[in-house]
Amino acid sequence: MQISRQPANVALIGFMGAGKTSVGRLVAEHLGFEFLDTDELIQSRAGRTIADIFAKEGEPAFRALEKQVVQELSARTKTVISTGGGLPTDPENLAALKSYALVVCLWASPEKIWERVRHQSHRPLLHDADPQKKIRELLAAREPFYKQADVLINTDLRSVREAAQQIALQFKLATRPKR
Ligand code: S3P
Repeated sequence: MQISRQPANVALIGFMGAGKTSVGRLVAEHLGFEFLDTDELIQSRAGRTIADIFAKEGEPAFRALEKQVVQELSARTKTVISTGGGLPTDPENLAALKSYALVVCLWASPEKIWERVRHQSHRPLLHDADPQKKIRELLAAREPFYKQADVLINTDLRSVREAAQQIALQFKLATRPKR
């Protein structure tokens, strides 16, 4: 990996169920960084769940809140930022993340994603008659955005621990003093 900037943070992008929150918390521990989750920030500010925001105001209102959060986080340093699965599909969001973070994509196959999310119910986009088809379609549409990350980590065959170690190492490599 060759990046020409000195990122002050790590941002994790990737599909729902890719492991951004669990891996992100561990990366933060490894690096001695703070951990932030864009979904949690949005929920605590709005005082309601994402499902509720989607249901009452619609997806565009949620995306506007996401965009606001991405801009605000530009002042952060030493933070691992876990992002909602749809956040990097807005090119302005992806560009903003890249300006202040090493952007790491956690990749997972549609089969693994389904295995991980099938017993969860808090994600409005998966409230669908055929959630497996929805996952395949959304993932295919988002792949070009996810693949613009600085670092791509396939989580199908990696444990949370291994993925977190890899990311901490990549961050150290990206930020070591250049001779
Ligand atoms: C979304 C993913 C969710 C959350 C919202 C929309 C998406 O976050 O932001 O339900 O568009 O993929 P996670 O990726 O953390 O599940």
